[in-house]
Amino acid sequence: MAISTCVFDAYGTLFDVAAAARVAAEQPGQEKLSEVWPKLAADWRSKQLQYTWLRAITGDHIPFWQVTKDGLDWAMEASNLDDPVLRETLLALYWELPAYPEVPAMLETLKSNGLATAILSNGSPEMLEGAVDFAGVGGVLDDVLSVEDVGIFKPASVVYDMVGRRFGCEPNEVLFVSSNGWDAASAAAYGFTTVWVNRTGEPIDRLPGKPHHELNDLTSIPELAGRL
Ligand code: LAC
Repeated sequence: MAISTCVFDAYGTLFDVAAAARVAAEQPGQEKLSEVWPKLAADWRSKQLQYTWLRAITGDHIPFWQVTKDGLDWAMEASNLDDPVLRETLLALYWELPAYPEVPAMLETLKSNGLATAILSNGSPEMLEGAVDFAGVGGVLDDVLSVEDVGIFKPASVVYDMVGRRFGCEPNEVLFVSSNGWDAASAAAYGFTTVWVNRTGEPIDRLPGKPHHELNDLTSIPELAGRL
């Protein structure tokens, strides 16, 4: 069945999550951070995601913003960064993450080709609104769907159910795009046609679902969606 709807993960897929630590490290007086920011960014992301999975398993849901703060606190302690001002700076930067450079044109092309477009993210609605506004892509997205509407994080299938409910489409009409291998794999197992955006050449996740397509970036998504 032809693709009618393109749905994107947000953090790491449309928005560069490492940018908060990278940008903070460039600020004056951040010599220590400039040495450790890659580890800080990796630990922050890793703990943030681990906490989403654990909270989904235990049923102990809290909004992604709190999970993001908890992950940062773990990561700062692991890098011996005891600095409340830096913590506030990093959290503020998380609301202004840059979109990857190809994102605006890619979304515009999808819209002019007549496809529906949306974000489906763990992010809290306010965080997603901040990121979409900062990137200036609100006009080329039909909707921004947050897991807060179902109260559990990805990859719970009720999260992926939100797409069919919103757009009235079958799973195989959806092209789901994520840079998170586990998200692309889980969405494939759910029944979406999936793209794994593997910018850094990571190995494939050993999970039951397998992404249908693997790309280095988002540039060719409209061409792919048009030929499926
Ligand atoms: C999201 C996380 C998984 O945006 O990146 O849902």
